[in-house]
Amino acid sequence: MTDLSDSAKLLIDDKEINLDVYTGVEGERSIDITSLYKDHGLTTYDPSLGNTAICRSSITYIDGERGVLRYRGIPIEQFDRPCPNFIEVAWALIFGRLPDEEELEQFREMLTENELLHEGLKNQFMTLPVDAPPMAILSAMISMMACYHKEFLLLEDEKILMGAAARLISKVRTIAAFTYRRAAGLPFIYPHPGLRYCANFLHMMFSLPYRQFEVSEEMEDALNLLLILHADHEQNCSASAVRVVCSAQANLFASCSAGVNALWGPLHGGANVKVMEMLDGIYRGGYKPEECIEAAKDHNNPFRLFGFGHRVYRNYDPRAKILKTACDRLFAKMKKADPLLDIARKLEELALKDPYFVDRKLYPNVDFYSGILFRAMGIPTNMFTVMFAMGRLPGWIAQWKEQHFADGAKIIRPRQLYVGNPKSNYLEMEKR
Ligand code: SDX
Repeated sequence: MTDLSDSAKLLIDDKEINLDVYTGVEGERSIDITSLYKDHGLTTYDPSLGNTAICRSSITYIDGERGVLRYRGIPIEQFDRPCPNFIEVAWALIFGRLPDEEELEQFREMLTENELLHEGLKNQFMTLPVDAPPMAILSAMISMMACYHKEFLLLEDEKILMGAAARLISKVRTIAAFTYRRAAGLPFIYPHPGLRYCANFLHMMFSLPYRQFEVSEEMEDALNLLLILHADHEQNCSASAVRVVCSAQANLFASCSAGVNALWGPLHGGANVKVMEMLDGIYRGGYKPEECIEAAKDHNNPFRLFGFGHRVYRNYDPRAKILKTACDRLFAKMKKADPLLDIARKLEELALKDPYFVDRKLYPNVDFYSGILFRAMGIPTNMFTVMFAMGRLPGWIAQWKEQHFADGAKIIRPRQLYVGNPKSNYLEMEKR
């Protein structure tokens, strides 16, 4: 139980209601209203839940004012170097600490053993339209995994959960690569047992039967970093969707499929596609960044500066900062440039000086630069949100596990403020 630190008083109808106050590890405080309706018939009104803690969690910590992000207490900046890799971060998010060599090797072997799709699942995959939205394919396929892996519908111990996590993390990579290959009219390339997670993905995406794709170290490092930076982000929209579905005691596949669908939205993970379309539109249209900044400020103009702003960060998203330097690093090593990166930088420079953005504390978020890196790897724009989902999957699994095994966890069922018709009567058709 988080420290019960002090109490708060709520005065209403000349009544004084005492409420407990909990203090989190970083000093953040939360007023306990869990019995407000039962004892006093009152609810609180917070439609987007931006002021409401829906759980206790020890997975990820964000300080939006200071631009702080930590996975299991480790500052995100410490993952910005070659040695950490996505799989060890995934293990740490799910199981609560960094794995030792043996645990990491064991998990890697489970990933390798579970790279292939069940032939029945693959046949289902082949019935989907070739040009279907990749996020629709991903959410359908994750949901359908429940049909082919019934042994994971009930996860009551960590060993079985580790097996389900390995299947999901490994097969989502295969589904993503196969989705791209099928849309491109290319044969499926199966995982190479000698390659690590990120290198294998690029191999499955870009190798040809007669020519194995040489995965450069800088590409593999860049993809590791991208997936690590997307791995979790506390109670974001898609993680909360996973928790809500999980709270009904739905299985892990159903919950993660819900997470994919929430992430798809352009205000959430779908923003990385919108950012790329925005930058590409500016480039092809020959628009000036100054014009775009003015358009983004005009509420009568539908143009929005995608990749800017955040529900929690009221400072620079630390992930965007890391990705911005990662772009320079990769392009320097590849000896290439991207005009869209120049446009992104100019937009950022103008916005960070403009009172409209400064006053509203709108800074670049994780989606602003991520697409530039995905594009540099040759990944098509319509696959960007699938890449976000591949990265976020360990975070969803970790959030699901925490919700599923939480002491006293109840089904998540918010209340409402009713503003509809007062009591009325059914009218026969002739009286309407
Ligand atoms: C992700 O929650 C997470 O952790 C998410 C995420 C994760 O890792 O899971 O970090 C991933 O989803 C990042 C966000 C990606 N979305 C975008 O980049 C879409 C563009 N950004 C916005 O739509 C917006 O900033 C949100 C949705 C991200 C946040 O919305 P808020 O906090 O509800 O802010 P708001 O919509 O109430 O806007 C406040 C003001 C408004 O102006 P006023 O009414 O005060 O005059 O800021 C303006 C908005 O119009 N504004 C923008 C803007 N974002 C907000 N104006 C222009 N361009 C923008 N991008």
